[in-house]
Amino acid sequence: MIKAVRGTRDLLPPDTALWNFVEAAVRDVFRAYNFQEIRTPIFEETALFSRSVGEETDIVSKEMYTWEDRGRAASDGQSLTLRPEATAGIVRAYIEHKLWDRGLNKLYLIGPMFRRERPQKGRYRQFYQIDAEIIGPVSSGSDSPARDAEVLEMLATLLNRLGITDWNLELNSVGCANDRAKFNEALRQALEPVVGKMCADCQRRAVTNPLRVFDCKVPEDQPIIEKLPRISQFLDESCRTHFEAVQNILKSVGVEFRINDRLVRGLDYYTRTAFEFTHGALGAQNAILGGGRYDGLSESLGGPAAPGIGFAIGEDRLVMSLKETAEGVLRKPDVYVAPLGPGMNGEAARLARELRQHDLVVELGDENFRLKKSFEAATKAGAKYILIVGENEVKAGAFALKNLASGEQVSVVRAELVGRIQGK
Ligand code: HAM
Repeated sequence: MIKAVRGTRDLLPPDTALWNFVEAAVRDVFRAYNFQEIRTPIFEETALFSRSVGEETDIVSKEMYTWEDRGRAASDGQSLTLRPEATAGIVRAYIEHKLWDRGLNKLYLIGPMFRRERPQKGRYRQFYQIDAEIIGPVSSGSDSPARDAEVLEMLATLLNRLGITDWNLELNSVGCANDRAKFNEALRQALEPVVGKMCADCQRRAVTNPLRVFDCKVPEDQPIIEKLPRISQFLDESCRTHFEAVQNILKSVGVEFRINDRLVRGLDYYTRTAFEFTHGALGAQNAILGGGRYDGLSESLGGPAAPGIGFAIGEDRLVMSLKETAEGVLRKPDVYVAPLGPGMNGEAARLARELRQHDLVVELGDENFRLKKSFEAATKAGAKYILIVGENEVKAGAFALKNLASGEQVSVVRAELVGRIQGK
């Protein structure tokens, strides 16, 4: 038997209704903030990710699905990769299509991402992100702390609107390239005497990219990491002012946050503001979304200066934290239309069509079903009513309508069916 590949999964009804509910709500909120949809390919040249996410990150060093496409000219680069995240592709598209001509771009993308991580609850090898980015030339104000705060306030609004209220916003500033160079040097020095006691990954990171030590999840290493210097001590004046401005706007719109100066995020392109929203109910994989600013990313991909800020929500995790409260989202059939006896399928289809035009959810049976089987099917479908369409009913112009929960049955003339089923 062939099964879905480990770490991938099918999304089945009724859960898909939750996914659609989330996406509809998200698109609605995005519209209010003037974000517009972008779609990019699900695979790109491998170099795009190593140059943006970073060679030394877990994502690029061990989690990418990469293959050689010999159908491409060697000069074009034959190494291709399933996108592990969306930001790199969006910034590539920004550069390729000269989107700076449009001033400030507010873009969002919903789609699957791929990382070869060890699968567990809330962690998959194919997962879905709801990603949003604000990017543009400096003249468009893309580097303003007002944009950081706008994105964070939008996220708070979105989560609250979905009924997820027990979230925590963890906020940090990871400074600019200069600050990070100084911080990396300080980290290297601080690590030197202790790194021998740390895990193999940390020993490698200490040499290649010390900042990544903060990604370490090995419990024994945590007391050592606790004592390391923090990026907050290395921020220059402009980064500190920027970070304070973000916090002040958040306070004035009443969005609560907690400063977490250990938060460095698992991707190399971040500058200044970095953040995560966590949710208690999710367990170990408690980051429901993450994001931050990436003021130098466009240049590192060969584009012009284009400061930006964005985030990606893990849609799988968002749906998971929604499940408890989402009963109302799932709409069951209002009525099961049961044709009874030969020649009744056409009459029943006509009636079903009328009812559906009035925004009722209608399940339609088959004239070959005996009445008992129709009742069973209606009950299984979770329908509220069953409507019997037999020869006598059609002749009389009135139909037997039975409430499956209460057992109450009435005869209803055609013109009154919609109102009756809608409960008016
Ligand atoms: P990230 O923190 O790597 O950031 O991923 C964002 C979110 O995607 C995570 O918080 C998590 O909810 C979800 N996620 C990540 N990996 C998995 C997985 N294996 N299974 C299920 N969910 C997962 C980024 O990807 C950045 N591109 C975000 C960003 C956009 N920063 C600026 N703009």
